[in-house]
Amino acid sequence: MTLLRSILSVFTVNSRKYSLNLQSKKPPKILITGGLGQLGVECAKYLRGKYGRESVILSDIIKPTAEVFNDGPYIFADILDFKGLQRIVVDHRVDWLIHFSALLSAIGEQNVPLAVRVNIEGMHNVIELAKQYGLRIFVPSTIGAFGPDSPRNPTPNITVQRPRTIYGVSKVHAELLGEYYFHKFGLDFRCLRFPGVISSDPPGGGTTDYAIAIFHDVIRKGRYECYLKPDTMLPMMHVRDALRALSEYLEAPNEMLNRRVYNVTSMSFTPEELADRMVKHLPEFQITYRPDSRQEIADSWPQVFDDSEARRDWNWKPRVDLDDLVTLMVKEVKEKIAANGF
Ligand code: SER
Repeated sequence: MTLLRSILSVFTVNSRKYSLNLQSKKPPKILITGGLGQLGVECAKYLRGKYGRESVILSDIIKPTAEVFNDGPYIFADILDFKGLQRIVVDHRVDWLIHFSALLSAIGEQNVPLAVRVNIEGMHNVIELAKQYGLRIFVPSTIGAFGPDSPRNPTPNITVQRPRTIYGVSKVHAELLGEYYFHKFGLDFRCLRFPGVISSDPPGGGTTDYAIAIFHDVIRKGRYECYLKPDTMLPMMHVRDALRALSEYLEAPNEMLNRRVYNVTSMSFTPEELADRMVKHLPEFQITYRPDSRQEIADSWPQVFDDSEARRDWNWKPRVDLDDLVTLMVKEVKEKIAANGF
């Protein structure tokens, strides 16, 4: 055991040096888990544009579409299978891990044991993996990591959290575990707390996803029934800003970072405000409101997110405002519907 440990620690030190060298000479080799969730495909496209097609490996347990498969490296990876993950890191000489696998807030409440396995046990695996192989690891957190006792307007970087969803609990756990591994083992753990991320890919079981579903329903059917009240304010961001934030933060030198976990946001709006802005592009549509259990989740989350620490430390600055977001979404959702029929 001691021998194994010393072999492993030598290996860790060597691979850390190796990944530092790589950054100055060659692009990093990046593995993305949960690749077929809301962010994976777009993130792979974005990072392949920056580091090259072969540098970014998308992974999931789901069979990809031909389009995703032909876009660049795609492999099977089960985040609950530690050995399998080790093999991938070794075989592909991975340097950075972007860990997207997670059940979101609303869907997590419907299957708590599964959310515990994916969000918590999965996190245990990837963080150990990152430690063993000296990887830089990015894990997204969320406005959902706050709860009814948190200040909501604005919500600072460091404050009371105590979320009431299993999703939020698992994300606080990930934040704390990552910080702990950073302080204890020097792991290069990086985490951004995202607001609702708005992209043209269909919604994936979140509470903020009304702001995606509204575009799909209005464009296809001319009406939308919203599960949140018209005045429910939540922080939001277009996927373009989210991926730029992720990429800029991943590249920021360690010396610039005073924290491992940062709030980031672009804007805050309510369903009513969003619908008002959509009228310019889509004059004829109907919106009705029927709040369900997701209202309680939204009411416990930040309304305005304070991301001043990210702005100060690594120059984060959003670019997409509400009008841009609506323009982009109308165009992108129309294209998606035309191409895929959903
Ligand atoms: N989009 C997420 C959710 O609503 C928030 O991180 O669950």
